[in-house]
Amino acid sequence: MADLTRARSSVRTAVVWEALRPALDDLLADPRGGGRTELEVLDVGGGTGGFAVPLAQSGHRVTVLDPSPDALASLGRRVAEAGVAAQVRAVQGDADNLAAVAAPGSFDLLLCHGALEHTDDPAASLAAALATLRPGGALSLLAANRNAAVFARAISGHVVGARHALEDPTGRWGASDPLPRRFAPDDLVAMLEAAGARVLAIHGVRVFSDLVPSGVVEGEAAAREDLVALESAVAELPAFRAIATQLHVLAVRP
Ligand SMILES: C[S@@+](CC[C@H](N)C(=O)[O-])C[C@H]1O[C@@H](n2cnc3c(N)ncnc32)[C@H](O)[C@@H]1O
Repeated sequence: MADLTRARSSVRTAVVWEALRPALDDLLADPRGGGRTELEVLDVGGGTGGFAVPLAQSGHRVTVLDPSPDALASLGRRVAEAGVAAQVRAVQGDADNLAAVAAPGSFDLLLCHGALEHTDDPAASLAAALATLRPGGALSLLAANRNAAVFARAISGHVVGARHALEDPTGRWGASDPLPRRFAPDDLVAMLEAAGARVLAIHGVRVFSDLVPSGVVEGEAAAREDLVALESAVAELPAFRAIATQLHVLAVRP
């Protein structure tokens, strides 16, 4: 990963962790979890373990489901280096056939970060993913926001692409858009509710970090900390959330 991509990704991660930490505490305190001190986590599209490894280091047990053998190989190396191999199970598969690899009601926490965009049928995948949660279990969903693509294409002068992203059912800006799909914020919430989830909070992630000059993200740690603080301050404000690159939704299975 190039330095700038890694730095932007660390800004994203910081904001998501901020939302996730209190959710972990709530899950541990929830009597429906059976008083466990370690959570059972399913990370759908967990890739190289950016979230799985820190969760395992905190003592939780994480199943990472991902179709990419390369990502799973990197995950294996990372898990070994971190000394958490006993707590991480890697499964090759995808969100479209989740039921085959994860028993219903068996997880406390489901992460789906940056994976729903790649599924053939997001509504069906989401419903299948939610079914793997126990009652009271939580979902952390991170998905690309269509509005951000419209905004970013327009301000970089790609007006036709902006219009395409606005009107295309998959939110793509054109045939060479590398992302298969983006979601309008209201559609994402409606999809979650239709799948039976109760939405607790929606955060905008990367409101500014893809727009500011690269020096802010790559430069002094203090400038990056200021950016993370700004991102946190605006994450739940609807006007800013509406144009965030990604939407982070915390939801529970009632
Ligand atoms: C942008 S990466 C995100 C990785 C990780 N969740 C994170 O937040 O750092 C997207 C991941 O989704 C995986 N993926 C692609 N198609 C998928 C599918 N149909 N079901 C589950 N995961 C998929 C990719 O292999 C990749 O590891």
